[in-house]
Formats: sequence, structure tokens, C-alpha cells
Amino acid sequence: MRSEISFIDLRSDTVTRPTPEMRRAMAEAEVGDDVYGEDPTVNRLQETAADMLGFEAALFVPTGSMGNQVALAVHTRPGEEVVCDADSHILHYEMAAMAALSGLLPRVLRTADGFPDAQQVTDAIQPDIGYLARTGLVSLENSHNRGGGAVMEVEKQREVQKAAHSKGVPVHLDGARIFNAAAALGVDVREVAKGFDSVMFCLSKGLGAPVGSLLCGSTDFIKEARRVRKRFGGGMRQAGVLAAPGLIALERMTGRLIEDHDRARRIAGALVRLPGIQFASMPRTNILVFTVGPEWFEDEMPEDGNFAGRFVAHLKENGILALALDKNKVRMVTHYDLPEDVVERTIMAVSRV
Ligand SMILES: Cc1ncc(COP(=O)(O)O)c(C=O)c1O
Repeated sequence: MRSEISFIDLRSDTVTRPTPEMRRAMAEAEVGDDVYGEDPTVNRLQETAADMLGFEAALFVPTGSMGNQVALAVHTRPGEEVVCDADSHILHYEMAAMAALSGLLPRVLRTADGFPDAQQVTDAIQPDIGYLARTGLVSLENSHNRGGGAVMEVEKQREVQKAAHSKGVPVHLDGARIFNAAAALGVDVREVAKGFDSVMFCLSKGLGAPVGSLLCGSTDFIKEARRVRKRFGGGMRQAGVLAAPGLIALERMTGRLIEDHDRARRIAGALVRLPGIQFASMPRTNILVFTVGPEWFEDEMPEDGNFAGRFVAHLKENGILALALDKNKVRMVTHYDLPEDVVERTIMAVSRV
């Protein structure tokens, strides 16, 4: 698409293309058969990731969804419940995999910002009674994708962990964008990862690597996760060519995420002044989610009420790609693979729409 017209692609940070340094590292990567544990580059990536997040071990997986689903499978047994929020990625965008692959039922919590508090979690954990399903896991998401990149405070995470652990229930973090959360909170990523029984994070989003995520946990947990990854069809062979850009992502890309956050804030700061655009909260990371109201369409009201769809289509005619999350909500995501004047051009395009 980019080769036909030069769009500014704000649909997601997954659209980022690998940097020239990543491509060189891919070409030069030392490789081996990773199903035998013999790929030195994959091993180095796993050790680096575990060390950065403060875990004993880590496992390279092809996608964030697989990382989450492997974690769910390892922590639970079929017939158990997973406590998660109504807007979580594991519920919305993972193809009902917890039910299809692991026989799990989500126990869904409604929250204002995607983050349940300790009391909600305590209430959602089933008492140990013979006629109730067991609660196998609590899962949090930080930063929160559908929550407009919202960030959960570390203290609130600790309270939820304490509530779950006091009832013997482990806690997983979908930390696809954990480095964005850490940058927004101004803390080391270890602080955000602390206290969880497992954390999944992605290399292929704002960090710019072409493929891959890591699941972090204890040595025993990762040993079992390796088996489940293979069962799910995720055992890879000379995966060092994919791990090599991941190492560059961890070395070079985490420190610059605040630039993406700054751009998101500047775009939101201009859009919020326009009539018919509303933000539930202003962005703290690289994701902006806003609602588009009927005021926007004086002359040509969309008959199906799909304001967001129409808005996004008009924006595309003006060179900007964004995503309609539903009939009212639009999402834009900033990332490193954008032109210098992305803020100005986005604001100008929205004004033209
Ligand atoms: C919060 C969150 N978790 C998990 C994922 C899944 O990652 P993948 O697309 O690599 O499966 C995403 C992807 O956008 C995400 O935003």
C-alpha cells in the first residue's frame, strides 16, 4: 500500500517495518534448531528478556496471542475460569482461544479503564465449593489496548496480585506494550513486571521487530510452556533470524518510546478541541482512542450510524490511515516508522475531513 501512495499509517504500531540494522542482524544471525534448544541467537534473546524483566526464564513465541494462550494453558486446567476485564485482548481478539484450546471460561469484569481493582478481583474468585468452577488465573493488561493505551499504576497491580495470591490464584500480565507502560510510569520495566507469575510482551509492536513475543516466568513454568508451545504448533527451527532483530529491539528501541507518547499527546491535544471528537482520557502512551459524534457529519449523516467507519474512510482520502474500533470509536497509534511531520499532517488531515 505504501508503495502506491505514501499514507501515514496510524492503524497500529504493528505496521512498523524493521530498521536497516535489524535487517542486517537477520542476515548475519547465528542459527541452530530451536526445537532442540540449539539456536544461540534465540537463547540469547530469551536470556536477555528474562533478565530485563526480572524473571528466571523466557520463551520466544511467534505472536503475542500465542504467548498469552500458552500462559493460560500452563497456569490452568480445563474447566477453570480466567478472571479478565471486558475489554481485554485475551477476550476480544484471541479467537475464543481460551475456550477452544484450553477449555477455559472467562469471568468478565466491567471496569472504567480496563483495570480491575483488588476488591473486584477478590469478588470474582470463586469460593472453594464443590458445585462451582475453580478460578485458575487472573489476567491483567498493561498498557491497555482498547483502553486507549491506558496505564495501570504499579501499586494497583500489587493490590490485585496480593488479592489473587492470597486465594492461591496466579496472575498473568498481557504486557504486549509493557515497555510503553514503563516509559509512561517513568519506572524500570522490572517494576511493572514484578509480582506477576508470568508476563508476555511483544517485540513486533512499538519496538519495531518484524516478528515475535516473549513469555517470561519461572524456570519450571517456562519448561512447561515450551511443551505447550510445541503442542500449539509454535515450535520453530532456525528462528535466530527472527530473534536477532528482537535483540536490536530490546537494545535500541525501548528508550525512544517516549517520543511516540509525545506525538500521541500532541495529536490528541489538537483533536480534542474539535467539535464532535471526545476522549475518554488523554493518551499516556502511544495509543489514542476517541469517539466521533454526529456533529461531524452535518450534510451526509451515515445511515448505518457508523460514524467511525465514515470518519476513517474520509481520513484515508486525506492520506491518513486510522482504525474504526466500532461504530463510534476511532484508534490511532503512533510509532517510530512515521514521517517527522506526522503530528502536523494528521491534524491538518482531520481538519480537512
Ligand atoms: C494488548 C495486546 N495483547 C496481545 C496482542 C497480540 O499480539 P499478536 O498480534 O502478536 O498476536 C496484542 C496485539 O495487538 C495486543 O494489543
